[in-house]
Amino acid sequence: MPYFMENLSPGKISSAFKRALQAGLIREEDTAVIFYDLTFLKERLSYLSSCFPSTTLHGLAVKACPLSGVMQLTKELGFGVEAASMGEVKLALHQGFDPGMIVYDSPVKTREELEFALDEGIHLNLDNFSELERVNILLKNRESKSTIGIRINPQIGEGSIKESSVAGEYSKFGVPLRFKKQELTNAFLENDFLSGMHLHVGSQGCPLEMLVEGTGELYDLMLEINRLTSARKGYVQITTFDIGGGLPVSYSLGRQPVSMEAYVAALKQRAPLLFREGNLSLPGDTDSGSRFPDQGSRIKDQGVRLITEFGRWTYTNPGWTVSRVEYVKHDPGVSTAMLHVGADLFVRECLNPRDWLHEYTVLDGEGNPRTGNSVNPWNLAGPLCFSGDILAKGVSLPEVREGDHIVIHDTGGYTFSMWSRYNSRFAPRIIGYYNEGESFVLLKEREEMEDIIRFWT
Ligand SMILES: Cc1ncc(COP(=O)(O)O)c(C=O)c1O
Repeated sequence: MPYFMENLSPGKISSAFKRALQAGLIREEDTAVIFYDLTFLKERLSYLSSCFPSTTLHGLAVKACPLSGVMQLTKELGFGVEAASMGEVKLALHQGFDPGMIVYDSPVKTREELEFALDEGIHLNLDNFSELERVNILLKNRESKSTIGIRINPQIGEGSIKESSVAGEYSKFGVPLRFKKQELTNAFLENDFLSGMHLHVGSQGCPLEMLVEGTGELYDLMLEINRLTSARKGYVQITTFDIGGGLPVSYSLGRQPVSMEAYVAALKQRAPLLFREGNLSLPGDTDSGSRFPDQGSRIKDQGVRLITEFGRWTYTNPGWTVSRVEYVKHDPGVSTAMLHVGADLFVRECLNPRDWLHEYTVLDGEGNPRTGNSVNPWNLAGPLCFSGDILAKGVSLPEVREGDHIVIHDTGGYTFSMWSRYNSRFAPRIIGYYNEGESFVLLKEREEMEDIIRFWT
């Protein structure tokens, strides 16, 4: 398996960290630093493109990693973004993303935000029928290049992590398919501008079959509605299909991740037309020219445009975090390493430790991995003023010493983007690197006092 499909090994991390030390990138005040292996990220992205039709818009979820330098890199490689708020939309515009490459998904868009998106020509996924009605009214007196879809909850069940499951019978997101199928069909029939379907199953903790079946349920509905619009309006109306993100990653060294290849193979089998480039003829349609008279002009060359929204799969494994061990405490039956990051960077891990586990590597002051196991298990405690600020409890590690570094593996997604301001700690320096540390780029400088004052003022 290519290395960019797996977790970064302690050896690779140690060698990049040693090079960063030698390059003087870890200053005394850099008590914690976040790293991104950008070679890994680029290779992963190019693999992603190779798995889907060339017309696919890959809207990488900004919420997983909103760093400007990373967004720039993905833009230059031809990727788009999935934005969960107007802030993320404007961040993407600020980075120079073409509006057509931005997928705007927030479940609570204001009228002004909808107007802005329509005027810019951003792809919109509407969350509910009230929002659809708002857009209907807004479109009466404006031209817009936006393509517009609606989020549908396929109601295929929850994954193992309740807090991040969005496709159960109840979800705060989207229109529930089973409860509102007729209304959904009518919504397409009554609103010619509605040309897309959107779903998202995940994030993390959902088996492959669940993700595929979510798409399958909507796919069946798309075929049904397209037959109806073909018969009644003379054209196939749904031409954009957004499968969302949600593919889980492995946080454990040596555990086989759910592979993108297997996911795509299963999707192709369940929803084959989504992968047919440039032609959307419906199954059983032997003389599409006569049954769908408009199809030639409207669809034939265009096909169905796929959108994806992978966040965790894209960003998690290329990132890692390192914290200096400031102090070590030994108690009967457990030792504690006091670190410079905790619940400020690892909100989910500290609040819900059973579901969010990482691998850890201990590096000595020079960046060499320590080996062996100490007698006591270890708690990795953060610097924040509450007792739940413990990143890991009772983990087996080599003997840890003051001045060592603890590496927290697989932290590239949904960590820094969830940074908490509690206790006014300085957000750490973030460094990207290529070819195991042959070259480095500063992605974000460590915060200074002015940043903290600005936040609280
Ligand atoms: C609508 C939507 N799309 C995409 C994503 C990204 O999901 P993931 O990071 O699991 O790929 C999310 C995550 O919350 C989401 O809500």
